[in-house]
Amino acid sequence: MAQVGSAGPGACGRRGAGAARRTTWRWAPALLWLATAAAVAGDPSRRQWPVPYKRFSFRPEPDPYCQAKYTFCPTGSPIPVMKDDDVIEVFRLQAPVWEFKYGDLLGHLKIMHDAIGFRSTLTEKNYTMEWYELFQLGNCTFPHLRPEMNAPFWCNQGAACFFEGIDDSHWKENGTLVLVATISEVSCALKNETKKLAEHGFLF
Ligand SMILES: *[C@@H]1O[C@H](CO)[C@@H](O)[C@H](O)[C@H]1NC(C)=O
Ligand SMILES: *[C@@H]1O[C@H](CO)[C@@H](O)[C@H](O)[C@H]1NC(C)=O
Ligand SMILES: *[C@@H]1O[C@H](CO)[C@@H](O)[C@H](O)[C@H]1NC(C)=O
Ligand SMILES: *[C@@H]1O[C@H](CO)[C@@H](O)[C@H](O)[C@H]1NC(C)=O
Repeated sequence: MAQVGSAGPGACGRRGAGAARRTTWRWAPALLWLATAAAVAGDPSRRQWPVPYKRFSFRPEPDPYCQAKYTFCPTGSPIPVMKDDDVIEVFRLQAPVWEFKYGDLLGHLKIMHDAIGFRSTLTEKNYTMEWYELFQLGNCTFPHLRPEMNAPFWCNQGAACFFEGIDDSHWKENGTLVLVATISEVSCALKNETKKLAEHGFLF
């Protein structure tokens, strides 16, 4: 088990006084929104390929046409308050896409689904954060042709789902469950990570 990325003391330069106060940080529910690659309809002079990446500072309302067959993130929970002196273990999780349906088949083609696991050393609780499609893989990959629209239409929004627990056997059996880092100085590291995540489109 590799152990990388342990944050050294004083990384944020505020150990001592800051730590003594034992401030807790609420890492507000983070949601990542997939930029919907909306096809530019109509005007051919505006057509461009690949469709330019579009950033949103909020989650666009999904088109009512898109109806999820399975509830998104049914057991989702908010990201818990983590104490300054906690040590968080971070796991890399990987399993074949659609394992529940095709077993290891897509794994042989290296079509994998990735997630991140966290474990608090203080509470011994663990958590999974996955990013996936709101309207299932097929709808995320293939567009719909709608008679009332002259361009292909995608139901391709995705989001991050955070929930309590790590299903060890699911990740281990045909995939990966490996400790990749331990984070001490939690509040400091989270401040930094929060900033980075915000820059990458997570919302807090
Ligand atoms: C794909 O989207 C259509 C249109 O919203 C919906 O009827 C269908 O249930 C979706 N498919 C899945 C597997 O969710
Ligand atoms: C792992 O792959 C095998 C072979 O495809 C399959 O039978 C099994 O159900 C898979 N494991 C899990 C946890 O889905
Ligand atoms: C996560 O917690 C469950 C329940 O305590 C435990 O069975 C499992 O082994 C833990 N997994 C990891 C990777 O910590
Ligand atoms: C936080 O960011 C600062 C400045 O970018 C860096 O020096 C420090 O090592 C980082 N600390 C952690 C714990 O990531």
